[in-house]
Amino acid sequence: MSDDRLEGVTVRPMTEDDWPAVRAIFEAGIASGDATFETTPPTWEQFDAAHRPDLRLVATVDGKVAGWVAAVPYSARAVYRGVAEESIYVDPSLQGRGVGRALLETMIAASERAGVWTLQAGVLPENGASVTLHRALGFREVGTRERIGWHRGRWRDVIVFERRSALADRPDGGEALAP
Ligand SMILES: CC(C)(COP(=O)(O)OP(=O)(O)OC[C@H]1O[C@@H](n2cnc3c(N)ncnc32)[C@H](O)[C@@H]1OP(=O)(O)O)[C@@H](O)C(=O)NCCC(=O)NCCS
Repeated sequence: MSDDRLEGVTVRPMTEDDWPAVRAIFEAGIASGDATFETTPPTWEQFDAAHRPDLRLVATVDGKVAGWVAAVPYSARAVYRGVAEESIYVDPSLQGRGVGRALLETMIAASERAGVWTLQAGVLPENGASVTLHRALGFREVGTRERIGWHRGRWRDVIVFERRSALADRPDGGEALAP
């Protein structure tokens, strides 16, 4: 991490009022070409319907939204209820200064408290910042799905990362998290 790490990064739950800023940061991520296969951001209603209400966070710097992270359920099947997939985006003007790390650290803690036993992410191999961030915070590479996406006229690989909750693997973990 460079000496440019920002002081005063606050991470808090996302609200609907944050949506214009969240959407703009998502659009910048789409434009980067190595963040997502999405081509346009969703509406608030689509975003709201897809993402877990308890796992949506924004980072703010001087009161302004600097980045966000949110998770969708991996599956509607009960056996997978503790599996969620996160997406993380930081304002391009503030990338590389610790905002992503602050967001993902807080998301990991929030997800564990919420009973998530496996937090996962799909990352394009060209996305060095995201690969480094996920490795640094204890995600392991499950593997690379080769040529899984046809994106902007070429085949793209996706690295699947997952992070196992420490709470889940306590001796009583499975029982504690079971319904
Ligand atoms: C990926 C992203 C969320 C990371 O957030 P960030 O605020 O830029 O990252 P941070 O400053 O917190 O750095 C996180 C780690 O990655 C490293 N890193 C940052 N930028 C990097 C880069 N360009 N290449 C390699 N490593 C990098 C940092 O050194 C840091 O590691 P450390 O804390 O162990 O020193 C952010 O760059 C981003 O929004 N990118 C565009 C959207 C996107 O790609 N989202 C991810 C989709 S999977």
